[in-house]
This record gives sequence, structure tokens and C-alpha cells, in this order.
Amino acid sequence: MIRNRREKRVRYRSKREIVVCIDIGTTFSAVSMSILECGQPPRNSNIQEITRWPGQNVPSIKVPSIVWYNAEEVAKAFGSDDEDCLILEKIENEHWTPVVWWKLLIRPGHLQFLPALQEAIPGLPEHLDIKVEDVFRHYLAYIRSQIERHIIDSNANGREIWEDAKSHMTIVLTTPNGWEGITQHRMRQAAMDADLTKDGAKIKFVTEAEASILYLAQTGKIDGWLHRNNYIAMCDCGGGTIDITAYKVSASSSPGKLRLEEICYPRCCIAGSVFVNRMAEVWIRDRLKNTMFDDEVSIKRLLVSFEKSSKPSFDGEKPYVNLALGAYMTERAKDIHNGNLRISKKEMVTFFEPCRQAIIQGLEEIISIPDKPVKRIVFGGGFANSKYLFSEVRKWAETKGVEIARPDDPLEKSVTNGGIHWYLNSTIVGRMAKFHYGIEGDANFNPADPDMRGRETLVDMAGEKKVPYVFFVIVKKDTTISVDKEASAWFYRAFTDDCDKTVSLVLWAYRWGVPPKFMKKPGATKLDDGFLRICTVKGDLSKFYDASPYHESLNPDGKMFKYLQYEACLMLGDTEVRARLKWRSETSKKPIYCEASIGYD
Ligand SMILES: Nc1ncnc2c1ncn2[C@@H]1O[C@H](COP(=O)(O)OP(=O)(O)OP(=O)(O)O)[C@@H](O)[C@H]1O
Ligand SMILES: [Mg+2]
Repeated sequence: MIRNRREKRVRYRSKREIVVCIDIGTTFSAVSMSILECGQPPRNSNIQEITRWPGQNVPSIKVPSIVWYNAEEVAKAFGSDDEDCLILEKIENEHWTPVVWWKLLIRPGHLQFLPALQEAIPGLPEHLDIKVEDVFRHYLAYIRSQIERHIIDSNANGREIWEDAKSHMTIVLTTPNGWEGITQHRMRQAAMDADLTKDGAKIKFVTEAEASILYLAQTGKIDGWLHRNNYIAMCDCGGGTIDITAYKVSASSSPGKLRLEEICYPRCCIAGSVFVNRMAEVWIRDRLKNTMFDDEVSIKRLLVSFEKSSKPSFDGEKPYVNLALGAYMTERAKDIHNGNLRISKKEMVTFFEPCRQAIIQGLEEIISIPDKPVKRIVFGGGFANSKYLFSEVRKWAETKGVEIARPDDPLEKSVTNGGIHWYLNSTIVGRMAKFHYGIEGDANFNPADPDMRGRETLVDMAGEKKVPYVFFVIVKKDTTISVDKEASAWFYRAFTDDCDKTVSLVLWAYRWGVPPKFMKKPGATKLDDGFLRICTVKGDLSKFYDASPYHESLNPDGKMFKYLQYEACLMLGDTEVRARLKWRSETSKKPIYCEASIGYD
């Protein structure tokens, strides 16, 4: 059964298409793609991953999210390029600057760091005049070049496929749970500037956690949990963020039938595994002060070694982990033994602690949702491979009677392959509203209403007194929004012949418990705390205006005018906001629609 418009379009496409899913991670990125031949149904087995990146000595699906810039701010090398000794020589001799962890710099402002991690994220290097959008664009342009290379090299008629379909690729970008609206807009712009596509509508967004669970569901590894009416959560522990999403299984796991419905707003916490490295770095620098290793080159090398061996080897059992210093010496006062810096279990636990706490707190919230008992949690993301972290999570789960699983399928594939599944199939039928969503509008002034006293007023085209900054709620926080259903609000406004018929409605989100009726206190210059601007919905009402009758009387300026009562219809249940305006004439029951554009400013 074809469930929605996207599925229908995918199945009955008239030309060859390439769907690419790009997962830009804080530390590693990956790309999967599917070539959809016209007239043939998409097959899950058709998904291909880029498995070899330039420079890699050992092929890998993951490529580091690194860009090296030269002094002229030109992006010179990417990903695993430094594994090639000739490029490494250039990086060192020409002092190219590596830029890392830049994904976190595009995060929405309302996403808070844990207090212990506030100082941990470096900004972009100060001596380079680049913005985070530039890094995204440069990296995505590199990804595009690798998509082209992969398609041409790995498919029998690769060049023909590429030439045929490169201009209309569908690009699925994955994001953490907390990224939306403006962040998606910035990423979309960077992807277009990187020439992945010229058509912004061809760029789609899905969250990493949602993509992961969709991938795992189709591998069959979690079938035992995907029974109708079960509650299940996905916890993606990445390098930068911890993302937790919980679902109710609303139709069983039999092939093609699975339907999942979000049961709470998805959690996102900036507490991924890079913060362990950051905490370790502070300690290592301090420990090696006034030793022969107290220089930038040695420290950098040691941090690489911490990432590659000390961190993964820590299981919380052994009394210490070693960090090889590269010179055979012992200095007990500095914990240096036979050429190794010993990091005690106590220190290692301290490095992991803020992340461990953030993860457990997120999981606690998920299993405490009233009437929705989540008793099964699936883990994914590189950080979930940590023996220590996972053993801590296991201990917690045992005390709570929660079952956990970390499927051993190559997890590197889960996000990008899941992103392709998300595009091809519509498994998610409902999402939870993270905020109260509403539109800013004007209300008729009512002198008897005490809430309106002392507020600024304005006069509309019909000469009526209005009070601005009213918050018209269209979707309440923590309610389920069906993926294909519209939520709407009615607006009533007077227009004259000579005034602009374009309306701009601002969509706002309110974060806290009960939203106020007005967005500002009387006389205040700033909005109340808790309002986040999501986007502007713009539409041209000329069509509605032309079809409407004039009002019987003239306005105070002696002009003819019309009242238009129109409905702003928003689709908030999908991964992106979509909108249109609706109007119904007095004589005809058939509604007239006009598409509305979404702007982020
Ligand atoms: N065995 C391990 N022990 C501890 N950490 C690990 C282990 N294996 C991988 N990691 C960490 O996992 C991270 C990579 O995971 P992943 O690829 O899921 O993150 P990402 O996609 O780059 O980040 P994000 O999705 O948060 O933006 C790295 O920071 C790495 O240090
Ligand atoms: Mg990731």
C-alpha cells in the first residue's frame, strides 16, 4: 500500500534518480546512496556506501570531519588526506590549519552545554577569516566530488548514471535531534553552494537517531522488540551529541509494515565523546608541565594516542590505562612509568563523568514518561562502543529493569543507510511537538479585557483598533503530530486595492509549560523568555482578494476595502516545516490554496 505522497513519487518516478544520504558527524562523516532506475521499485539491497576515502590506507566507511586550510583560507585537504605521506608533508611544511568539531558550531542557540563542558568546544581558528557555513560548504563540495568518484568507479555504467542524474540528486542530510529550522536552512544553503543540487526542495532532513532505528529495524536485529504497542527508545551516542528518541510501535515489524510513532519530544544533549578527550587534554597538559613532553607537537600526538587506544581500552575495571609517550623513561612523581603516562581509573572516570551523567539523565527522562513504559533501549553511535560507558549504562538499566541492546551490525552504516530508508519508506507516522508552536498575530482591542490594558495598539486598513503580539497556538507541546496532517490557524485582515497582498506570518515556538496569551509584557521592548523564532511563512493573497467582495462601507480614509479570512496551514509533523494558505469563498465550498514559502532570517 502506498502510504504518502513521497512514497508515491519515489515509486512512480519518470527518470533515473540518485538519492544520497550524508551524515556529517562531529568527528566522522559517512555517505550512502541509492540509484533508483525509472520504472523499477527501489530495493533496500541497492544501497551503496562510499567505502574508500582518499588517503585511507585501510578502507573505511567513516571519514574524519576535518578540513585543513592554508594561510590564504583555501580548503586544501579533507578527511583522511593526512594518511597520505605526501599530503601530510605539505600539511606540516606549509602549516595548514586543521579545523575540527565544526558541526557543533552550527547548533541552535537554545541547546545548552552541560556546565562542565561549557568551555570545551573550540571556535574556528582566530587567524582564519572563515565562518562555519564556509567549512560546511567546503566539506560538502569535497563530499560531492567523492560521490561522483564513487558512482563512476563502482558501477558498471557509472559515468552514464552520473551524467544522467547528477543535476537532480536528492540529498538527505542527517542532523542531531535538536537541530531544526534555521540550522536546517544554513545547512541547506551550504549544500546548494557546494553544488550538490540547485534545487533547495531536493534537500531533505532526517535526524540521526530516527535514521539509525530505521536501519536497525530493517536488519531484523531488533525484530524481537518491534511488536505492536511496544515502546522502544533509540539512544545515539556520538562524538558531539547524545540523541534519544522514543517510539511506540503502532504496526508490527513484518517487512514494509513497520510503523513507529514518537511518544515524547526527542532529546539532544551536547555531551558526546569529544568531551572526554577535552577533559583528558586539560589533565594531560597539566601532568606533563615541565617535562620533556611539554610542547604542542608532543601533546597533539598524545591526544591522538589517547583517542585511538587509551579511551577505547578503558573498561572501568583495570586500575589505570597507559598513554605511550614515545621515550623510554620513568618519573614516578609525574606518573610516567617505562615510557607510559599512567592515567588512573579515578582520573579516567572523571573524564567520562559529565557525559555519563548526561546520558543517564536523558534515559531516566525517557523511561519516566507517564503511561508509556519504555523498557527497551537500543544504542548506536561510536561512543556506545566504549566498554566503560556501556557497562555503566548496563548497571543503570539493571536497576531499572530496562533491557538494552547494542546491535553489532556495522554501526557506521546505520545513520546513512537509515537515511535512505527514511526517504524510500514512510515508517514514521507521527512525531511529538517539542515546543508549543504558534503564529504571531493581532487581536481586536477589547477595553474590557484586563490583559489588553497598557498594551500598544495599531489601527488596521478597516480602521479597527488591534493589539499586536498575540500568540495563536496551533500545536501544543507534547502532542502527537501526524506526519501528513496539517495544523492551522485562522486570520482575519482588511486589505485595500492598493496595499500589498503579501502576508508574512512568523512561526514561533514556546519552550516552557503554558504559553502566555501575549508574547510581550505591556510596555516591554523584548519578547518574554522562552520564545524561539522558527521561520516566516510568506504567501500572496492576491488570488483570494480578487475573488472576495468589497465590504459594504468605506474605511476611515474613504477607500473601499475587503476583509479576508484565511487559514495558515502548517505541516509540522515531518522533519521540516511546510506551509500553505487556504481560503474559502462564501459561494463555493471548494477551498482555494496558495503555496507559502518558508523563510529563515
Ligand atoms: N571504543 C570506544 N570507546 C570510546 N569512544 C569511542 C569508541 N569507539 C568510538 N568512540 C568515539 O565515538 C566517536 C565517533 O562516533 P560517531 O561516529 O558516532 O560520532 P559522530 O557521528 O562523529 O558525532 P555526532 O553524531 O555526535 O555528531 C568518536 O569521538 C570516538 O572517540
Ligand atoms: Mg553521528
